[in-house]
This record gives sequence, C-alpha cells and structure tokens, in this order.
Amino acid sequence: MSNLVMQLYPLPGGERPLHGLYLNHTLRQTAEASERPFVYANFIVSLDGRIAVPHPTKPGLTVPPDTANERDWRLFQELGAQADLIISSGRYLRDWADGRAQEILQIDDPRFADLRQWRQSQGLPPQPDIAIISASLEFPTPDVLSAGGRKIVVFTVAGRDPARIRAIEANVGPVFVVGEGSVDGRQLVQQLGRLGYHTVYSAAGPRILHLLISGGVLNRLYLTHAHRLLGSAPYTTIVEGAALAPPPNLRLHSLYYDPSALNGAGQLFTTYDVRTTE
Ligand SMILES: NC(=O)c1ccc[n+]([C@@H]2O[C@H](COP(=O)([O-])OP(=O)(O)OC[C@H]3O[C@@H](n4cnc5c(N)ncnc54)[C@H](OP(=O)(O)O)[C@@H]3O)[C@@H](O)[C@H]2O)c1
Repeated sequence: MSNLVMQLYPLPGGERPLHGLYLNHTLRQTAEASERPFVYANFIVSLDGRIAVPHPTKPGLTVPPDTANERDWRLFQELGAQADLIISSGRYLRDWADGRAQEILQIDDPRFADLRQWRQSQGLPPQPDIAIISASLEFPTPDVLSAGGRKIVVFTVAGRDPARIRAIEANVGPVFVVGEGSVDGRQLVQQLGRLGYHTVYSAAGPRILHLLISGGVLNRLYLTHAHRLLGSAPYTTIVEGAALAPPPNLRLHSLYYDPSALNGAGQLFTTYDVRTTE
C-alpha cells in the first residue's frame, strides 16, 4: 500500500508521505506563539457523519470498525506525540476496563517507536500526561494510566462526594472543580495553563468537544472523512449539546486525499482552524 497522500490544500499541493504528515504541522511551535494553551481535537467520521455505532455485543457505543483504519490511526498518534497532555474521560476509562475502547493508554506499541524517539529528541517526557473529564467520578484507575511516569489530572463539577475526591487524589492525581452542572471549557483550559500545559489534544467525544467549543477554547479540529456510509442508530456525531450560538466559523487549514485507505474507498484528512464569530 502506498505511503503517499495527495495534498489538495494549501496549493501548490502534491504527493506527501503519510508518515510525518501531522508531525509537520509543528503544533508545539504554534502553541508557543499562543497566549493560552493550544487545544486541538480529532475525529474520524463516516460520510454520513457518524463517529460511533452500537457495540455488537455490549451496551453502549464503539468507534465503527468500518471506518477505523491504520492510516488514520498513525495520524492520531502523530497528534498525540506532539501533546503535553491528552484529554480523555470517565467514559473512556470505563470502556477501556471492559476491553471495548481504542487503545490510547499503551506506551510501548512498536509501530510508534519513532514517535517516542521524536518526543525524546524534543526533550519531552516519554508520554503526554492525561486529563480525565468526568462529572460522575465513577471510573476505574488501571495501573497503565500512570505508566512511564505519566501524570493524571482530573476535572469535574461542583458538589461531588468529598470522600471520592480524596480517594482519587490519594491514588490518581489532583482533582479540579471547573464548573457547576458541566465542566466549563474556559475554566478547564485556564487551569491547564496554570499547570504549565501548552499543547493539549482532546481525544474525547462529542460532549467534550461541545464544552471546548462553547467555552471558546478549541483552536483546531482534525477531521478524517472515511469514504463510507454507515447508517445505524442512535446517530452520534462530533458535537453533542445545545445549539452553538453564534456558531463558530471554521477555516480550512489543510486537506489531503488518501486514496489507498479502506480497501480503496479512500479518505480525506481535513484540518480546520476555529474562528469565533464576532
Ligand atoms: N470516531 C471518533 O473519532 C471518536 C472520537 C471520540 C469518541 N468516539 C466515540 O464516540 C462515542 C461517545 O463518546 P464519549 O461518550 O466518550 O464522549 P463524550 O460525549 O465526550 O463524553 C465522555 C464522558 O466525558 C464526561 N463528560 C462529557 N461532557 C461533560 C461535561 N460537560 N461535564 C462533565 N463531564 C463531561 C462524562 O464522563 P462521566 O460519565 O464519567 O461523567 C462522559 O461520559 C464513544 O463510543 C466513543 O468511542 C469516536
């Protein structure tokens, strides 16, 4: 299978190697120029906009096996490698514990040894730290979370059980209250800035994307359009929550065509810079 993709924007385009495509976006340099943490998120969607489908044997949803693919996963890892911190969630840890989540916690996958070397060459710790966003605070804390010296920070809402907070702080990491009924994106990112994080990657789902957008703190969206139609119910897409008013404008930052993915169906790698409407 070809290791090349076609850059369609910005022009002039041309063939580019898949490996290194998103490392070349130099997100850490972009973050250095930003006054507050630079926050980016990533999803793979079907052409009918689906990010998840019902799990075949368990309750709840899962990333569709008909869109997930190695080439997109490589770019997911390149985005993760550039981060100081990855945002995940209570739901992710619950799904991870019952074996249905995509693996974002593993630290020794041989396919991504070059990315670990890249982090080392940049003077970064082997792994980004992890932020867990959870209103329920009901999540398991497997040992792999703190593998390789990775730090964990938990963000939640007011009014949680103090005993549960103490237990998490004793066993996992600090807990910050950054909202009332919902985690507030602006407070979350302010606190991440105070903790010294500059480059923040959200690998979480549609409600967390909503709180980042409604808090005005999402800088860039990475969206892979897998050239398949899925159908299925319930319909789950990249943003879930109240209407975004005013709706943010997203400006195309780059566009690549990857014809070899998904048995020749192909996919588009699109990236957008988020602009708040005045
Ligand atoms: N295709 C893709 O690229 C892609 C990417 C991401 C996710 N997905 C899939 O999409 C499906 C749904 O994702 P998801 O449920 O993880 O995403 P989510 O809607 O972002 O929510 C995840 C968890 O985050 C916490 N949370 C969310 N919003 C919150 C808020 N405003 N305040 C406080 N806590 C909040 C909750 O944790 P607690 O329940 O612990 O309170 C919630 O269960 C999953 O099947 C996932 O695999 C697909």
